[in-house]
Amino acid sequence: VKIAIASDHAAFELKEKVKNYLLGKGIEVEDHGTYSEESVDYPDYAKKVVQSILSNEADFGILLCGTGLGMSIAANRYRGIRAALCLFPDMARLARSHNNANILVLPGRLIGAELAFWIVDTFLSTPFDGGRHERRIRKIDEV
Ligand code: RB5
Repeated sequence: VKIAIASDHAAFELKEKVKNYLLGKGIEVEDHGTYSEESVDYPDYAKKVVQSILSNEADFGILLCGTGLGMSIAANRYRGIRAALCLFPDMARLARSHNNANILVLPGRLIGAELAFWIVDTFLSTPFDGGRHERRIRKIDEV
């Protein structure tokens, strides 16, 4: 599995921790920045991960900003992207099993690294349930 990850300045620290956690598990990670705490605009970084997912360069994306809200709003503008802001492991489980989320969004200013790792692990290990959820997802893309 290959992960595309990016954050803005507000979540740079958590992005680095999540990236290193994944690398430590032997998972391939494509880091699209940002690379410091210098102020940047989150839509530019959402776009980089979105492009990586839509071109099948990466299997899943992880986006982080201060609240996770800006990244969610920006990423979900793109057809075919289902970006899920998850604050608890159970949200990550349901984001995958019901929503077939292809991007996990995390709030760098609201959660600590240990919880973030737990959410990431849950997201990456949960398959999509399909069935009735497939029909619902199709309806999103018909909009
Ligand atoms: C940056 O200050 C902050 O607005 C951003 O990280 C994010 O929380 C936006 O939704």
